[in-house]
Amino acid sequence: MIKKSVFYFLMIFMAATQFSCKHEIPFTPIDPSDTIAVNGAVCFQSDILPVFQSYCAKSGCHDAGSREEGYQLDTYANIVSKGVRAGNAGGSKIYEVLVESGNDRMPQPPENPLTASQINLIARWINEGARNTSNCSSACDSSQFTYAAKVKPILQTNCLGCHSGVAASGGYIPLDTYDGVKEQALFGTLYISINHTGTYPMPKNGAKLSDCKIAVVRKWIESGAPDN
Ligand code: HEC
Repeated sequence: MIKKSVFYFLMIFMAATQFSCKHEIPFTPIDPSDTIAVNGAVCFQSDILPVFQSYCAKSGCHDAGSREEGYQLDTYANIVSKGVRAGNAGGSKIYEVLVESGNDRMPQPPENPLTASQINLIARWINEGARNTSNCSSACDSSQFTYAAKVKPILQTNCLGCHSGVAASGGYIPLDTYDGVKEQALFGTLYISINHTGTYPMPKNGAKLSDCKIAVVRKWIESGAPDN
């Protein structure tokens, strides 16, 4: 009898600890770009949606034509319709696959994983209720336009799903190195692409960047596109 209850106790204890480990979300500071929406929440429209659109909603993966495993990750309604449990990132399939190993990880190898700050931001967004937060432009300050702190995070969120690593399908233009970005900047194509005044408006298939973010990139280019 005693033995049995000890056994049950151990089972429950083990189940409880396993449960809590699996659901624990690592937390590190997020990128110092525009990440604040109304009430200080993560901004879905400017910081989460572009990541899904750039890294996941691609042909052969999770765009409208492919819908791998039934996941179409291109709009708010489609993203929250499957694999997102509002308020519970640890119990959300969409979060789980970001931290999986091997071929279960998304984006699938040989693509690079999302960065720790992108993953944490998605976890935070889900834990905050997976809301369609959109009124977020106030956090951008176009008087700050250094490369590392301001320009790079904009590219990371909005462009690198297509313009980095093996995913550099974007006409083979890598934007994940300073040299790659500088080349497009000085050539003029970086600005006209995000300002939608060139042949190829960017981010492809996504919403135009906010005026403030476009101004950050423009001012950085006008200052000579330094590695600062
Ligand atoms: C969903 C994938 C995708 C995303 C996201 C994306 N691009 Fe592109 N990009 C492409 C593709 C594909 C091309 C090649 C032209 C085409 O087919 O539209 C391209 C071309 C370009 C070019 C060359 C344009 C020219 O005139 O030669 C630049 C510069 C560029 N992208 C910058 C960006 C920037 C900056 C962002 C983020 C703000 C971005 N892209 C986001 C896929 C993408």
